[in-house]
Order: sequence, then C-alpha cells, then structure tokens
Amino acid sequence: MPKSKKVNESITIMTEMVMPNDTNTLGNLMGGNLMRMMDVVGAICAQKHSNRIVVTASVDNVSFVNPIPLGNVVTLEAKITRSFTSSMEVVVTVFSENIPAGIRMNTNQAFLTFVAVDQSGRPIEVPVSVPETPEEVNFYEGALRRRQLRLVLAGRMKPEEATELKAIFGM
Ligand SMILES: CC(C)(COP(=O)(O)OP(=O)(O)OC[C@H]1O[C@@H](n2cnc3c(N)ncnc32)[C@H](O)[C@@H]1OP(=O)(O)O)[C@@H](O)C(=O)NCCC(=O)NCCS
Repeated sequence: MPKSKKVNESITIMTEMVMPNDTNTLGNLMGGNLMRMMDVVGAICAQKHSNRIVVTASVDNVSFVNPIPLGNVVTLEAKITRSFTSSMEVVVTVFSENIPAGIRMNTNQAFLTFVAVDQSGRPIEVPVSVPETPEEVNFYEGALRRRQLRLVLAGRMKPEEATELKAIFGM
C-alpha cells in the first residue's frame, strides 16, 4: 500500500435521478435518502483512498438549503480533505440539476469521517493525503480544527487538549 495518495486519486462522483419512491409528500427528495447517498459516496471515496473496509464514524452538520424536486438529477462529489491515523475526513458536495430547464445549483455540503478497519473491525492506518489545488489545500488546513471540534462534541477529546480551538476561542 502506498504511504501517501493524492486527493484526486479518490475523488468519487455519484449521479442519481430523484424518483417517486425517494420523495416526501411535497414531491421533494426526502432528507434521509439524501443522507444515505452522501454516506455511500463518501464511503466509496474513503475506500479508494485507503483500500480498506471503512465505517462511518461521524457526520457533521447537514443543512438542507434548497429542496430537490422529483425528476431532478442529484450529483454528489466526495473528496478526501485530510487523512489522520486511521480516520479520513471526506467532504461531500451535492448539486441538484433540472436538465431540461438548464438549472444547476449547489444544495448541500457536509463533512463525514470514515475509519478504516481490519476484518475484525479494528482501526488500521491509512495513507497520508496529499492536497494539490488551492481548494484542496484550504480543506486540508481546516481539517484539524474540524476534527478537534467534532471529537470534543463527541466526548472523545478534552476541550483543553483542542489546540486549534484554543487559538480561536482563546481558551
Ligand atoms: C469508529 C470506530 C471504528 C472507532 O473505534 P475506536 O475503538 O473508538 O477507535 P479509536 O479510539 O482508536 O479511534 C479510531 C479513529 O476513529 C476516530 N473517531 C472515533 N470516534 C469518532 C467520532 N465520533 N468522530 C470522528 N472520528 C472518530 C478517532 O479520532 C481515531 O482517528 P485516528 O486514528 O485518525 O486518530 C468505532 O467506534 C466503530 O466501529 N463505530 C461504529 C461504526 C459504524 O458501525 N458506523 C455505521 C453506523 S450504522
């Protein structure tokens, strides 16, 4: 297994059309169905980066800004922002497209954390992620701060150990 991998080696894109079974009673894509798609595309991206089985450890805030109506095409793009020891933060960006009308909009973005595990479910080391574009570098640089925040919120890190947050909140 390589010691490092470029971010663009695991970019994953998934495209689906919103069908009647996917919608709520207003005829828009149900939030839970979108979250499932985000989890799947993110997991595939993390698998590609690590060449391992991965499990979802956490999903950061998901806001639903614009509804995605029946018949629209949903495109989800997943990218590694940064890998740590066994965990990988993946950013999933969602676009909704009405192809006949020529309208495409960004509807959601969320950070998901996946952990690579062995056959017994124990965390296992993953390759270092190498960002190249300015956007990838930007995501990489913010990843440690987001990691500390989510671990503090999950009760897995003491606030006083969160060095990146201290710098922001002056703790
Ligand atoms: C995620 C999981 C493998 C972590 O196992 P663990 O024994 O607690 O392992 P560790 O404490 O050594 O943590 C391993 C990694 O997970 C990360 N992690 C653990 N909990 C986390 C959380 N809530 N959010 C983000 N990352 C988390 C740790 O930061 C660590 O990352 P690192 O190796 O890059 O530093 C384990 O909790 C698990 O299997 N959870 C269930 C996953 C699952 O089934 N998901 C689908 C739900 S239906």
